[in-house]
Amino acid sequence: MPVSPVRESCALAAPVTAVPDTDRKAASTMRSYHLSPGAAPFGLARREHAVPEPGPGQALVRMRANAVGFRDTLVREADYPLPLAEGVVAGCEGVGEVVAVGAGVSGVAEGDRVALTVFPHWLDGPFAVAYAAQLGGSVDGALAEYAVVAESALVRLPGHLSYEEAVALPLGWLTAWNALTGGRRVLPGETVVALGTGGVSLAVVRLAALAGARVVVTSGDVAGKAGRLRALGAHHVLDRRGDWPAEVRELTGGRGAELVVDVAGSVAESLRAGALGGEVAYVGYRVGDAVTGPPVDARLLFDSGVGVRGVAVGSRAQLVSLMGAVEVHGLRPVVDRVFGFGEVDGALAWHASGRAFGRVVVSHEG
Ligand SMILES: NC(=O)c1ccc[n+]([C@@H]2O[C@H](COP(=O)([O-])OP(=O)(O)OC[C@H]3O[C@@H](n4cnc5c(N)ncnc54)[C@H](OP(=O)(O)O)[C@@H]3O)[C@@H](O)[C@H]2O)c1
Repeated sequence: MPVSPVRESCALAAPVTAVPDTDRKAASTMRSYHLSPGAAPFGLARREHAVPEPGPGQALVRMRANAVGFRDTLVREADYPLPLAEGVVAGCEGVGEVVAVGAGVSGVAEGDRVALTVFPHWLDGPFAVAYAAQLGGSVDGALAEYAVVAESALVRLPGHLSYEEAVALPLGWLTAWNALTGGRRVLPGETVVALGTGGVSLAVVRLAALAGARVVVTSGDVAGKAGRLRALGAHHVLDRRGDWPAEVRELTGGRGAELVVDVAGSVAESLRAGALGGEVAYVGYRVGDAVTGPPVDARLLFDSGVGVRGVAVGSRAQLVSLMGAVEVHGLRPVVDRVFGFGEVDGALAWHASGRAFGRVVVSHEG
């Protein structure tokens, strides 16, 4: 694992004192949550230690908001496809304010509002094994009051968003952006299907509507959510427990959807819903109560004429593009509930309840 300034500072931690929220900039100690498999109730351990100093090329970010989502469930259950290292600072979703910079930093300055990129080494181009280190996975993450980050792993936030809104961007919205723009691009009038109404899927709905697509969403609670989904740009809301691939075909005059963003591992169904020459953007192999679907019949893969593309969040360059689109169009991610930094377990419990519509956020304010 790369040398971790935050973890080094944990080892050197001075006697613990609480950080007064009124004087964050001058604080010398900080709190952070660390991956601690087996720790009740959510596999996290809270620690207090010295605030690290930014080195050359690095910035010190005072975190202002984090978010929790299904990724945290997969990490907790050790069902994550990327390497995990016990003890690292948890969480890959974080936004905050630059409060100090190290030598040679020119891309960000004190006072900048920034997002941390989920893959700090993935700047541009296709994903590669060399970029696999992920925040809150094998390197220190964002669920901390301060983080030291390479300036190349920071992107400025759109000015119209609060920190609580903006924290939806670097993981969920970027994944949706990559699904919509990183493979088979969707044209106005084509059909996009989003499965369920989680953080990634709500972003797909909003961005696909912006692209002029016909937007179809599946949900386990059509009656309760259809109104809010239509307000975000959905044209059709289908019951995910019904034969939604057949319904997609019917809605599209038999053609199928040009893009299905699959967050639930239901690839066989997604292929059945797809149009010849279309694509399944394969984002998640399980979500909520979904179990990964049956093995995909090779014949279905061939006959459908639909390609399957795995999506791994996105690069820094893609996040910059997304921020531009969000800014120009004044887009606002949906925030469901905001918890305090001392209430991370409550935030995780609320997400696990499956009752959220929009992001479950942890705020450092107040
Ligand atoms: N590849 C990547 O880069 C990447 C990035 C981020 C997330 N992910 C993955 O993408 C998936 C979604 O993450 P998220 O954080 O957006 O999830 P989330 O917010 O936890 O999604 C919850 C929603 O999923 C829906 N759902 C529940 N059970 C379902 C089922 N059986 N079938 C279909 N939908 C179901 C529910 O919507 P309704 O109640 O309305 O049905 C629920 O509101 C996860 O697998 C996550 O690990 C992948």
